[in-house]
Amino acid sequence: MVTDVYLPKWLDKCIFTKLKANYCCSNSDMTVIDWDKKDVLNYLGTYFPRSYAEAYCIFHAYFDSHLQDWTDKEKISVFDFGCGTGGEIVGMLMAVSELLPNINTIDIIALDGNQEALRLFEQVMKEVALRISTTIKAQVAPIRIDDLYDLSLLDSLLTNDFDIIMSFKAICEFVTKERFEKQNAYEHIARSFLPKLKENGMMLLVDVTTYNNVSQEWLPIMMDKGLKEADCNIVLANADYNQIFTVSHSKRKRDKSKVAWRIIEK
Ligand SMILES: C[S@@+](CC[C@H](N)C(=O)[O-])C[C@H]1O[C@@H](n2cnc3c(N)ncnc32)[C@H](O)[C@@H]1O
Repeated sequence: MVTDVYLPKWLDKCIFTKLKANYCCSNSDMTVIDWDKKDVLNYLGTYFPRSYAEAYCIFHAYFDSHLQDWTDKEKISVFDFGCGTGGEIVGMLMAVSELLPNINTIDIIALDGNQEALRLFEQVMKEVALRISTTIKAQVAPIRIDDLYDLSLLDSLLTNDFDIIMSFKAICEFVTKERFEKQNAYEHIARSFLPKLKENGMMLLVDVTTYNNVSQEWLPIMMDKGLKEADCNIVLANADYNQIFTVSHSKRKRDKSKVAWRIIEK
């Protein structure tokens, strides 16, 4: 599996020159939902490239090993829960355009509770649309999920089925903020979104691998417990508790990220 990538030059120019992102690492248990524009620009320069790399590599590995299920599709629909500035969406789009040339249209619903992040995501997507030949219809959903009641409302709002459902480094914030009180956030998200997957669809959950000071548990252990409780069929995952990916761009060479990821099918 490829784990070491370069951010494409045009994307580097878009985030660092056009949008004026900064490279600047933050602490663990961070909650981006509360961040203002300055903080989100730091996020864009630091974590967007990492999420891009993780998604590009994971989708590449998955499509490579499941080509027969995906190669005939011409149109796919995607739901990203907690998309932020959308690094993973761009990484997924690049993997799709390289490995699944039959796909000519991609419908995306990108949900996030931070408006500043969504504004930057929309700017990035304008640039992406100029660079790849696939027609992309991205719709942002500026929705903040405060508790289980909001999650159930979202359930009734999402009427369509998706080929891809993903969430990158967002569920950890639900744990830190105790959105679902002390219950397992991974289990609730999986139970809620799995029924929204198409028959041959896939759900990808990616998260940080730190010890969470609020739940007092290692997040990958919590993720596995939650997915087991939700009866998830995990078809591909990182070995052990985490995997390291590296991304190089104009502000940093071989910047490392460490995540846990699981791919679930129906
Ligand atoms: C660490 S960021 C990850 C962003 C993006 N997925 C990525 O990998 O670059 C977590 C995202 O989840 C969003 N988020 C956290 N809690 C949320 C909530 N309660 N409702 C909606 N969005 C939330 C934040 O606004 C933030 O954009």
